[in-house]
Amino acid sequence: MYQKKEIAVAIRVALFGTKFMGKAHTQAWRNVNMFFPDLPRVEMKVIVGRNQAETDTAAQTYGWEEASTSWQQVMARDDIDLVDISTPGNLHHPMVIEAARQGKHIVCEKPLANTLTEAKQMVKAVEKAGVRHFLMHNYRRVPAVAMAKKLVTEGRIGKLHHFRARYLQDWAMSSDLHMLWRFDKKLAGSGALGDLGAHIIDLARHLCGEIAEVAATTETFLKRRPLAPGSKRKMTVTVDDAVAMCVRFKNGAIGTLEATRFAPGRKNFNSFEINGSKGSLEFDLENLNNLRYYSVDDSPAEQGFHEINVTSKGKHPYADNWWADGHILGYEHSFTHSVADFLSVIRGRKRIRPDFHDGLQNQQVLAAAEKAAANRRWVKIP
Ligand SMILES: NC(=O)c1ccc[n+]([C@@H]2O[C@H](COP(=O)([O-])OP(=O)(O)OC[C@H]3O[C@@H](n4cnc5c(N)ncnc54)[C@H](O)[C@@H]3O)[C@@H](O)[C@H]2O)c1
Repeated sequence: MYQKKEIAVAIRVALFGTKFMGKAHTQAWRNVNMFFPDLPRVEMKVIVGRNQAETDTAAQTYGWEEASTSWQQVMARDDIDLVDISTPGNLHHPMVIEAARQGKHIVCEKPLANTLTEAKQMVKAVEKAGVRHFLMHNYRRVPAVAMAKKLVTEGRIGKLHHFRARYLQDWAMSSDLHMLWRFDKKLAGSGALGDLGAHIIDLARHLCGEIAEVAATTETFLKRRPLAPGSKRKMTVTVDDAVAMCVRFKNGAIGTLEATRFAPGRKNFNSFEINGSKGSLEFDLENLNNLRYYSVDDSPAEQGFHEINVTSKGKHPYADNWWADGHILGYEHSFTHSVADFLSVIRGRKRIRPDFHDGLQNQQVLAAAEKAAANRRWVKIP
């Protein structure tokens, strides 16, 4: 007869946020044990939102045991080991401070905080509490991006000269679109800069190295928006719609990073190109199973960019845990991989990247970019 395997003590999770990231993170917590069976078992204890009826529906649909509208009460529960913070930016700081005080391990959405001061306090709090912390820059764990990291680390594209990233969307262009939390600096910290720019700053640091200084310009194209859907009353938008940054890396490479919500036709165009002395790499999220690679070591007659389909077992990052070769993956797998990697170190001391220290360093770049844009000059990153 089938014998159920002895199961190690579970990690009991609470998730804060029910909507976009709430759903994306839920599917990661739900699937991780099925595809990464050697990891600690996850118990999806409670999901937290603002509206009881909506949160009850989310709990039922997504598969959480309970629903709550009090994040403070859930933080204080002693049957929760890990909290996953997927709420707007203004709540990251109070939630992380409280979670650390309660001794919970923490996953937090990006950007870590709304201000540099908050980010510093958050790092101090998790270090003091000795809890494990992970920042959800999920794009590091798209297999093609992990493969790019491997090739860069192995020196396959040589000494790095350029990092060029564009994160382009178009959802904010309609003047009918009302004031969401994402347009309010008090709630979001910044606009395209912290929302999309933080992701490509993370990829820049991950793939190319630490950023030494930044010059930047930002723009808010639509300065006032309806207070609510259909409302005639308008409110002032207090964040940027777009940012363009020039950066210098500590290793001598230079880069450009552009993020916007005003690029018609671009839905979630997160892309980068890296050029080194021995070759180039190119990635674009809308073609996420493939990495484009050019090597100067290829024979001159055959030189050209070629596309690596990053799905082969035994050869490519994370491929062993999924389907047969060539059976492609999607956006959601980057979250499953993130959660899997965090679970794999949660009971040890090994550092996982990106953690809150990375979040703080990212925040230094965001703050420097804002300063550079305001003063129209280069700003050094501490
Ligand atoms: N990693 C990524 O690719 C990615 C993508 C989108 C958003 N994000 C980040 O995820 C976070 C959430 O963004 P989103 O798009 O999911 O936002 P959203 O507006 O879709 O959802 C926000 C959620 O927060 C909940 N919430 C708000 N106030 C609350 C409170 N006081 N108590 C409990 N719950 C509360 C809301 O009920 C809602 O469920 C942000 O930090 C954002 O920057 C990351």
